[in-house]
Amino acid sequence: MKGSLPARYGPWAVVAGASQGLGAAFAEDLARRGMNVVLVARRGQLLEEVAGRLRAAHKVDVRCVTLDLASADFTVKLADAVADIDLGIVIYNAARIPIGSFLDMDEDVLEQVERVNVRGPLLLARALLPAMRERGRGALVLVSSLAGMQGAPRFAAYSASKAFNTILAEALWAELRDHGIDVSVCCAGAMPTPGYLATTKKAAPGMLAPETAARQTLDALGEGPRFVPGLINRISAQLMGRFLTRKAAIRLIDSNTRHMS
Ligand SMILES: NC(=O)c1ccc[n+]([C@@H]2O[C@H](COP(=O)([O-])OP(=O)(O)OC[C@H]3O[C@@H](n4cnc5c(N)ncnc54)[C@H](OP(=O)(O)O)[C@@H]3O)[C@@H](O)[C@H]2O)c1
Repeated sequence: MKGSLPARYGPWAVVAGASQGLGAAFAEDLARRGMNVVLVARRGQLLEEVAGRLRAAHKVDVRCVTLDLASADFTVKLADAVADIDLGIVIYNAARIPIGSFLDMDEDVLEQVERVNVRGPLLLARALLPAMRERGRGALVLVSSLAGMQGAPRFAAYSASKAFNTILAEALWAELRDHGIDVSVCCAGAMPTPGYLATTKKAAPGMLAPETAARQTLDALGEGPRFVPGLINRISAQLMGRFLTRKAAIRLIDSNTRHMS
């Protein structure tokens, strides 16, 4: 028996990128399991709405921290906001997801991808996990994507940043387990979140509700370094990895993203 999340890891969780979509679903599922939650995002009003729902439905404590994860000093602000609590779980969910021709993308947008998707999880883990090591328990979840398992045309910078998260989490899974810290990467497939629906209305194979992806990811916490939510996604990831050449896998993604400009 694995026991409850608060008993295994500690009473508080941080979700970076929690104002909507998968991040809000993670926050809700953590609260349902009895965890107090620190919600982080840029839009404070949306965070307060999520917080109000969690407090009313699950009787947990919720803190909102309004900040930009691309900002130079975000770890200082966040470390301040959690200095007095026993932090058990950290989830880095936020991402910048620009779509389109790489050569026509503004440099500023590419820098945002690097800041939010790469620098963000790297520095957040470095800032918040030493306290877990001291206590000898804790968990880190990095949100990656099936798009990070091979190059994804028209998502080049994004898919590369997600591959970074997958590899970072796998390395930390091995490095931190002796300190009682479980690390897992959630390699999500398509989910109809506000971010997804802003770019396409087209349903994708294996599409999963963000609530289901969050619940399955938290259920699997502690079982291994890499988790793919959704049976169809798990099977297709396995099949693509095993039976397709890299060239064929990239071409398959290419055929699915051609309609996206
Ligand atoms: N949806 C999918 O189909 C899909 C598929 C595979 C993987 N994923 C992954 O799942 C995660 C969540 O995706 P989603 O679809 O739920 O996205 P979403 O609807 O766009 O939500 C993104 C969340 O991240 C926050 N965020 C973004 N940039 C931020 C910044 N600079 N500082 C602070 N917070 C920031 C946003 O809040 P504010 O705007 O309020 O700051 C929001 O709460 C991402 O890591 C994505 O790569 C999604």
